[in-house]
Order: sequence, then structure tokens, then C-alpha cells
Amino acid sequence: MENKRFYITTPIYYPSDKLHIGHTYCTVATDAMARYKRLTGCEVMFLTGTDEHGQKIEDKASQAGVTPQQYVDGIVTGSRGVLDLWKLMNISNNRFIRTTDGYHVSAIQKIFKKMYDKGDIYKGKYVGKYCKPCESFWTESQLADGKCPDCGREVQDAEEEAYFFRLSKYADKIQRLLEDTDFLEPRSRVNEMVNNFIKPGLEDLCVSRTSFTWGIPVDFDPGHVVYVWVDALFNYTTALGLCNDQYDDYEKFWPADVHFVGKEIVRFHSIIWPAMLMSMDMPLPKKVFGHGWLLLDGGKMSKSKGNVVDPYILAEMFGVDALRFFLLRTFPFGSDGNFSNEALIQTINVDLANDLGNLLSRTTAMACKYFGGTLPEGCRDYLEQKQSCDSELLAAACHLRDNYEAQMEKFQFQNALEEIFRVIDRANKYIDENAPWALAKDMEANGMRLAHVLYNLLETTRICGVLLSPFMPASMDKLFEQLGADQSARTWDSAREWGALPDTVSVVKGENLFPRVDAEKAIAELEAAAAAAKKAALPELEIEPQLEEKVDFDTFCKSDFRAVKVKDCQPVKKSEKLLRFTLDDGTGVDRQILSGIAKWYKPEDLIGKTLMAIVNLPPRKMMGQESNGMLISAVHTEKGEEALNLLILDDKIPAGAKMC
Ligand code: MSP
Repeated sequence: MENKRFYITTPIYYPSDKLHIGHTYCTVATDAMARYKRLTGCEVMFLTGTDEHGQKIEDKASQAGVTPQQYVDGIVTGSRGVLDLWKLMNISNNRFIRTTDGYHVSAIQKIFKKMYDKGDIYKGKYVGKYCKPCESFWTESQLADGKCPDCGREVQDAEEEAYFFRLSKYADKIQRLLEDTDFLEPRSRVNEMVNNFIKPGLEDLCVSRTSFTWGIPVDFDPGHVVYVWVDALFNYTTALGLCNDQYDDYEKFWPADVHFVGKEIVRFHSIIWPAMLMSMDMPLPKKVFGHGWLLLDGGKMSKSKGNVVDPYILAEMFGVDALRFFLLRTFPFGSDGNFSNEALIQTINVDLANDLGNLLSRTTAMACKYFGGTLPEGCRDYLEQKQSCDSELLAAACHLRDNYEAQMEKFQFQNALEEIFRVIDRANKYIDENAPWALAKDMEANGMRLAHVLYNLLETTRICGVLLSPFMPASMDKLFEQLGADQSARTWDSAREWGALPDTVSVVKGENLFPRVDAEKAIAELEAAAAAAKKAALPELEIEPQLEEKVDFDTFCKSDFRAVKVKDCQPVKKSEKLLRFTLDDGTGVDRQILSGIAKWYKPEDLIGKTLMAIVNLPPRKMMGQESNGMLISAVHTEKGEEALNLLILDDKIPAGAKMC
């Protein structure tokens, strides 16, 4: 039988910032799909990578005082970078492309030239609008209220000599592709593309820039760099070896079976990408699937809003598999979903700790308690004392693979998992129906029936384990160990064949795979971690900018600054902020000043110090007490917190000395 092949990709990530849970979502979904396809016997190519060119990267690097290459290297290969995250999340990609890889760079130059030679790329002048964060060009008519229609941010005027791709030439073909085939899913995205982009008229696309340099140079016209989306989209083919000798899998894996992409980049994948492939006379990918966004409090996560959820924190706290499972169990893949810590903890506690965890631990515990871990021979086919619940459980478990497969083939991960958990529920009910603890009271009469019941439970758990393994690979390996399932009982075929476990199977009571989470404690910890992360992201030191407005010398001289000595300092009753100072200002009469510095100083530490005060401010009442002047301090902000230091002068300066 010919080995089936399956090629699946994620969008290559833009390393302008660290990845968050939204990026993790798509990669975990792709990984589950790739693992599922491998399980079914396909030869899989799973590609992911990073999209490293563009003006935004150039700007960020210059702000950070490093080269663009150093900047992206830090985010991609640095500690807790993209590669580290995928390793942590147990992502099984076969290949990782960086668009700064030499083979990709030269391949893109050849591809660009090929489209130019064909006449599909021509030189013209670009006049329009550019959204820097999205790296997208827009015409006036495409803007939404004058702003970028994708992200809603300000756009800027752009005018420069540029190369254009004849996108308009392919408009009809693309419309037919979208409307008449299943190229783009979910179907709702087709209407969006056709109505918003194709029907208003597809304009030619600007595919080179001259206003920055961090991109792939157009080799036949120095000064131009290739538009980052042309560079990025062709990664799906250069990573297989198109126009380069680095790899040799193009014939084997192209066209891709599916590109998983977030909904905001469906336009690039379902209009621009097929048009460029048509221009190159290349076969089109079989499908583009536009998944929804993970939202936080109803809005998109973004670093600038400060509402990104850190996958490292969640994985460390709850385990990688629990996090992977949650992402695909909770949100329908094609729609948006609201992320919350509460929902994550609830899913772990209900599905994993309660339903699956209990099924496994109760079954293995009973096999150990009543049979010393090894079931007796003949228990699998023991048909006396048969009950209708036996055949119900068997039927549910044996049909599961087909039901699951139907959902997985449609990328409906949530439904596939729902099918599995229906069977897990049925198995838990089967325990209650059979009350093994009651059967165990008379082992002579009921011992074989008890073993049969436990065997049925082990088998059902095994089948669920096989089908859960693409979602939670490491935990399912542990589950198989506990069940005593060898490699032959972990296969795709064995997931539809009842009885893969031998009846003398030996179970091992192992660690609790999915411990219950103490919700209150976990949420408090997560909130503290989020606050700490927010603080860490704040600038180290902030100093108020100097005033632009000038003050004339005479006005300045009207402010009377003097040295004052602290004779006494006391907290002001009922005030958390104020300290009351009794000061020697050189006049022979004590001066009282109130100052809101209790957060930074203990009163006793200030007695005897020489400070600086402005003494000719009008008197002011605070908490019912009079303040005559103001002590001068230096203020700045450190990690978002205000810091204050009084100006403490040399003790040899006499009280009353004028500052000028
Ligand atoms: N570099 C481009 C893709 C080029 S593919 C030829 C890009 N990169 S990205 O880093 O900005 O986004 C990568 C993917 O992450 C996109 O599919 C995007 O939709 C997805 N997500 C980013 N935030 C997300 C959520 N909050 N939720 C779900 N997916 C999200 O676009």
C-alpha cells in the first residue's frame, strides 16, 4: 500500500515580540493534527518557522541598539524564545524555517525574478497608505474610518518607486477558487474575502520597498527589497527545496494538504498566495483553514495593550499536556474564543482530573487491589453474567475511532474530544452500574465477572488513550504504562479493535496524571505572576521630560530657596502620606512644613538633617494643619513605581542660607 503523505503548516511567526498563548494555540492545533496523521499511518511534513524581515523588525532592532539579525536571533534562538517554547510545548515539527536562512533568501530572489520575467511583476510608483505594524499596503478605499482595516491603527502615506504584482489579472480565477471549491474554510470566511476584497476590485499589489533595507534584496534592482509577505508566503515551498538545494522534498510534499492560519491573515493566504502560485504555474495548496482568535476580556491579545497571556507560566503551573488539551477542547477551531484562567482550571479539574484521571486511577487501583495488578486468564471473553451495559460500553468504544476521525478530518478538535469524553463518561457510569466493590465481596462467585468488568474498563481507557495521544502525547505514554499497553496496543488500528490488551494484562498503579487544581490558590498565583510580568515589562527608569516652556530670570528669582535644619519630624495623625516638620530656617522662628513623603522616610531618620525648602509659597492647610513652604526632592519612576529622594544638603551649610 502506498504510504499516504500529509503536509501541514503553521504561519511563520513574526519575531517582533515573545510569543503568547494565541500563537501557541495555532501551533498546538497544527501539532495535534500532525500527530493524528502520523498515528493514522501518514508520512507527515509539519513545517513551522519565523518570518524575520520587514520594517517593524528594523525599527525595533534600532530602538534596542542591535542589528536586525541580532534582534531576531534573540527572540528565535534565545532563552525562552520561539524554539524553546516549541520544545517545551512538545511540538513535533519536522522542519523549522527562518526567512533569513541563506537558501530561502536566494530562492526568493529567483522566484521574484521568475514572476518578473513572466511579466506578472512590473515597475511602477506606489502611492497609498501603509500600516507599519501589519506590514500592509492599503488603498484609500480599503481603509476603515481612515485606519488600517485589520488592526484599526493609524496608517501613513507612502509614495515610492516600487514593483507591482498583477494581482488584478487573477481576480476571476481566485473568485472561482473561493466560491466553487473547498479551498478556504470555514465557509464563512469565503464571503468575507469575496465581498470585502474581490468584489470591490482587486488592485495590483506593491511587492517591493525602497524606504528600508531589512528585507531580501531584489537582486536585479539594488535598493529594492522584496515585500515581506511575498518573502513569507513562499516559505511553504522553499522549505521543501523549491529553487534551492538545501532540501529535496518539493515533489514529495507539494501541494500542501492544509495551511492553518489565523483569521486576520486569511486574505494573504487565500487571495495573494494562490495568485502568486498561479503566476509561477505551481499547484495550489489543497486547503487554507482560517482559525479564530483567542481573546482576552473580549479583545485581541497584544503586547501594546499589555494583555498577553504567557504560555510559559501556564505550562509550568498546570503542565504542558493540560494546556495543550485545554486549548483544543474549549474553543471551536474556526471561531474566536475567550481565554480565561478560570476556564482553564475548570477544564483541568472536570475533564482531566475528574473524568479521565478518575477512570484511570479507579480502574488500575481496583485491578491492583482485587487481582494484585494482573487480571486472570479468560476474563476478556468471560460471557456469563453478561449485562446490557457491557455491550453498550463496547459499542461506544468501538465506534469511537470512526466518530473521532470524522471530526479530525474536518479540523474540529473540540468535537473530536467531545466524542472521546462521551465514552469516558460512559465508562465512569459503567463502574457505578457494576459496583466492583460489591462484586469483590464474593470473589468465588463473582471474581471472573469482576475481572471482566475491569478488563472492559482498561480496554475502553486504552482506546481513549490512543485517540487522545495527538493532544497529550507525554501523558498518554504514561497512561499506557499504567494500563500495561505495549506498542501494539497504542496503534491506530488497535483503536478500533476491541481486545488489544491481553486478558492477563498487568497494570501498574502510577502517579496521578492530572492532579486537581486548587482554583483559588492557582488564580492568586497567576494574578501575582501576571502583575510581576507586567512590572518586568515596564521601563527600568523613567524621568520626566524637561519643560519646553521658558521661565524668565526675574520670575525664577522670585522663588526663595533656603537651607533648613530639621528640629523635629512627626507623622501626621490619620494621614498615611504626611510628615510634619519643625524647621530652623535661620530666622529664629520655627517654620512648619507638611510634606507627603511618609512612604519613603521614617521621621526619626530625618531629625538633624539639612534640607532644601522653598519658603515663600503662600501658607496651605493640609489635614487641618498649616504648611509654610515646601521641601524639595528629586523624583523619578523605577519599574512603574514613583521613587522620591529629599535633597539632603551638607551639614556645614547654615540654616537660612539662600540657594541661588
Ligand atoms: N508572519 C505572519 C505569518 C506569515 S505566514 C506566511 C504572521 N505572524 S504573527 O506572528 O503575527 O502571527 C502568527 C499567527 O499567530 C497568525 O496566524 C495569527 O493569527 C496567530 N495569532 C496571533 N494572535 C492570536 C490570538 N490571540 N489567537 C489566535 N491566533 C493568534 O502573521
